[in-house]
Amino acid sequence: MTGRRCVVTGAAGGIGLAIAEALIERGDRVLLADLDEQRVSEAGERLGQPWFAGDVASEAGVTDLVARADEELGGVDVFVANAGIFRGFGLDADEFDWSLSLDVNLMAHVRAARALVPRWSVENPGVFAVTASAAGLLTQLGSPTYSVSKRAAVGFAEWLAATYGDRGVRVTALCPMGVATPMAEAGETATEPDARLAHASVAAAGETLAPSEAARVLLEAIDEGRFLALPHESVGTMYGRKAQDTDHWLSGMQRFRTSLGG
Ligand SMILES: NC(=O)c1ccc[n+]([C@@H]2O[C@H](COP(=O)([O-])OP(=O)(O)OC[C@H]3O[C@@H](n4cnc5c(N)ncnc54)[C@H](O)[C@@H]3O)[C@@H](O)[C@H]2O)c1
Repeated sequence: MTGRRCVVTGAAGGIGLAIAEALIERGDRVLLADLDEQRVSEAGERLGQPWFAGDVASEAGVTDLVARADEELGGVDVFVANAGIFRGFGLDADEFDWSLSLDVNLMAHVRAARALVPRWSVENPGVFAVTASAAGLLTQLGSPTYSVSKRAAVGFAEWLAATYGDRGVRVTALCPMGVATPMAEAGETATEPDARLAHASVAAAGETLAPSEAARVLLEAIDEGRFLALPHESVGTMYGRKAQDTDHWLSGMQRFRTSLGG
């Protein structure tokens, strides 16, 4: 399908920008949304697409975003809830780290689904895609806030699929390990031990992919109507092993943590 009306959040750079570019490449129109006005406006101008600067973690921000999409595109066929943050390390993660992580990594998805899913039906179908993480299926060493908020994002997406998947809403969850983006680069200069552990574990777990590869795998999963989009195939294997023998998987995670000095 081409010519769809799409919204991608967190589209000023990294995976979100790559998803927007991949959609545009196949003939879709995309409203690029991000908190960072300068970068999202530059990306929108460069790609010849509309852009929106705002905070998708707040209900008002999502309401404004959907209103802008209606204005610019005349509706939304594909929503990609991709904006995310990676903050809060170890048990030092404080109340602010927890609430912001849950707002951006989970509640932004819930708020967007509340605004959009009731509009979609078998006659007028929509796609709701989320960028979760491998951390949402497994865990993220060093960061409880990221582990829990990404797990919750997968949980919400599963609930949406179970409830609306046969009523015209296609749900896909992108769950990569490392992808070369500004988020990943920020970890290279981390000094706090749990933050260093978090980033070292992503680097050691598997290949760091280009954002365009994560975008390609997401679009392929959407086309095929698959729930899970796994740019790193090993994540599916580990997820299966975890379900089969969780204690064994946890022992492996402990050994992995120790091997990284955590
Ligand atoms: N890079 C990785 O290794 C990796 C791995 C797995 C999952 N992810 C997930 O991929 C998604 C994209 O991350 P990325 O790696 O491209 O990082 P990134 O930091 O380059 O992009 C995230 C974008 O989200 C925007 N954003 C943050 N909070 C926002 C808010 N409240 N409202 C609107 N925009 C907001 C940021 O300004 C930024 O442009 C995130 O959800 C991240 O958790 C990344």
